[in-house]
Amino acid sequence: MIYTFESWQYTVPMALDDISAGHRENDPSETSLESGLIALVLRKLEEIRSDPSSYMDEGGAAVVHELPGGLCMKIMHDRHSSKDASLMNLGNTVAQESHFLRALENFSVSGVRTPRYIAHIESTLPGEPNIIIMEKLDAVNLQHVLNGTAEVPENFDAKIFFDALDAYIQALSEVHHIAHRDLEPRNVMIDRSTGLPYVIDFGRARSLRGLSASDRRSLVDGDDLAVEKIYVAWLNASTKK
Ligand SMILES: Nc1ncnc2c1ncn2[C@@H]1O[C@H](COP(=O)(O)OP(=O)(O)OP(=O)(O)O)[C@@H](O)[C@H]1O
Ligand SMILES: [Mg+2]
Repeated sequence: MIYTFESWQYTVPMALDDISAGHRENDPSETSLESGLIALVLRKLEEIRSDPSSYMDEGGAAVVHELPGGLCMKIMHDRHSSKDASLMNLGNTVAQESHFLRALENFSVSGVRTPRYIAHIESTLPGEPNIIIMEKLDAVNLQHVLNGTAEVPENFDAKIFFDALDAYIQALSEVHHIAHRDLEPRNVMIDRSTGLPYVIDFGRARSLRGLSASDRRSLVDGDDLAVEKIYVAWLNASTKK
């Protein structure tokens, strides 16, 4: 379901639909279904966000919390309204990042894929949250493994893993004309059951369409090199163990 309310656009995620159904029954006095629903969804998200047990992880741009129904939400830090916002490279908006996740929804190479996209909430006013709701991966962050704070899953095989990651990144540019541009161990996860990679965080991704051959080449080469660096980081960490 998609709702628009003032500057906000909402797609109410499936897992939250039952909450809104309950709300409709319980509060017939609500005059505007849309505003009531949106307020309810936001309250629910706020509740979840302030529950410390829902916290999953965070990066430089966002914090990620668990949602019911096997989902999670990436809540962007409000950097756009900060004083020095114009000096920062803020990366993609949630709409742009969601666009990449949606484009890659059915794309899988050598068992590698991105988290499934569910919905996003985008605001145009400072202080309102920008959120992406997506599948919660049952996976371990590669950076955590390198830091020694997480165990590598049982089925992990470095050769299979890095060949698969390499094949995925090549196909990403060849088939989808997308460069990720932020391939770091923290943006690669390891599936707990298969040991295969997930590529996450398209917050810096770019479309290669319409670029000159040399610009395209440099972005594609940048991604290839980044995968090699991740492999070297893995080798270094595993020889230290
Ligand atoms: N769909 C997901 N399922 C499970 N964990 C996730 C998911 N998305 C993100 N995470 C975890 O949350 C962390 C932060 O998410 P993400 O990388 O998207 O944020 P970011 O702030 O854009 O990161 P960066 O610092 O790379 O810019 C990830 O490193 C990962 O550990
Ligand atoms: Mg990240």
